[in-house]
Amino acid sequence: MIVVPALIRLTYVSTLHPEISLTDLDALVAKAAVFNQDRDITGVLAVDHNRVCQILEGPRRQVEQLFGSIRNDPRHHTVTEIETRTIEASSFENWGMVRRDMVDMVMYALD
Ligand SMILES: Cc1cc2nc3c(=O)[nH]c(=O)nc-3n(C[C@H](O)[C@H](O)[C@H](O)COP(=O)(O)O)c2cc1C
Repeated sequence: MIVVPALIRLTYVSTLHPEISLTDLDALVAKAAVFNQDRDITGVLAVDHNRVCQILEGPRRQVEQLFGSIRNDPRHHTVTEIETRTIEASSFENWGMVRRDMVDMVMYALD
């Protein structure tokens, strides 16, 4: 019997430290995309001034483990989990991680 791991979607917001530039962030997202794809995680991230919103989707254990690292990342603070729920399938293409406009996050959040 093949056991399919439960997929979850985790959404959080945080505040970037002021010294983190958009260039830094795009480098972070490019690195994250590779890491996430290796772990069947997909997601989107948006930044508005210094506010971040990120949605992570994937197998529960992988997503929770990654969120543990993200939570402790010194590049941002006040990491606040908004919602975690199980999902039937990932909403995103197989892109690991991409940056989108904050307004698009509303569409994703309502998905
Ligand atoms: C706002 C923000 C979003 C992040 N998103 C991801 C991500 O989606 N995937 C990822 O591998 N790392 C992401 N990181 C980086 C992780 O926090 C961490 O540096 C990376 O996973 C390496 O973890 P490690 O140092 O515990 O090995 C993010 C960092 C920040 C500040």
